[in-house]
Amino acid sequence: MSLRGFAHALPPIARWTRHKALAKSRGEWRQAAGALSVLARTRALEWRSFVSHADENAGTRRDFLYYATAGAGAVVAGAAGWGLVRQMAPSADVQALASIYVDISGVEPGTQLTVKWLGKPVFIRRRTPEEIEAARAVDITTLPDPLADNRNVADDASAADENRTLDPAGEWLVMIGVCTHLGCVPLGDAGDFGGWFCPCHGSHYDTAGRIRRGPAPRNLPVPLATFENETTLKLG
Ligand code: FES
Repeated sequence: MSLRGFAHALPPIARWTRHKALAKSRGEWRQAAGALSVLARTRALEWRSFVSHADENAGTRRDFLYYATAGAGAVVAGAAGWGLVRQMAPSADVQALASIYVDISGVEPGTQLTVKWLGKPVFIRRRTPEEIEAARAVDITTLPDPLADNRNVADDASAADENRTLDPAGEWLVMIGVCTHLGCVPLGDAGDFGGWFCPCHGSHYDTAGRIRRGPAPRNLPVPLATFENETTLKLG
């Protein structure tokens, strides 16, 4: 069996193992084997459908979301498979190891790409000169959250715009797209500060993703991220 085939077979095997533990009679064993067969066939069809769909849409921005999500899935599935073999793999370890690569070549200034990573949306914003200027003009002593909340800089770094972006010019802003109040997904290009707005309870974030008004206590967090090259971003 190929590596890909093995990875796809793992979830059905795990379920079959549970069936096996519960099955006490020969009839139940046969039923469990039948369930494994159905699950394996379903996974094969899902994979075939994904591949053909990705081919049909090659080159579109939508693909970025497909590829990034598939990449994350592959990493997590592989790690989960290893955990199954070893009979132990804390999910926190799996999550800490997971990383994905995102093609950002099609992201124009003033637009945002959203990818799913570790089960959460990640906003990848390519800012315009106006957005950068607005973010850098802010007096950081007036900010509700004075810290950068950026995994790529020191924990005590200030919320200055330069500490929030991935590049020194400030064009690329990458953030976990989950409101720091109660976890809704904020809307882009919205709110009183031209950044993001969370409609759940009215939190306004500026063009650097810093909380400016509303009940959210923290800036939108910046995850571990690096440029692999000019057009590829690595998360994690
Ligand atoms: S969850 Fe965003 S403001 Fe409450």
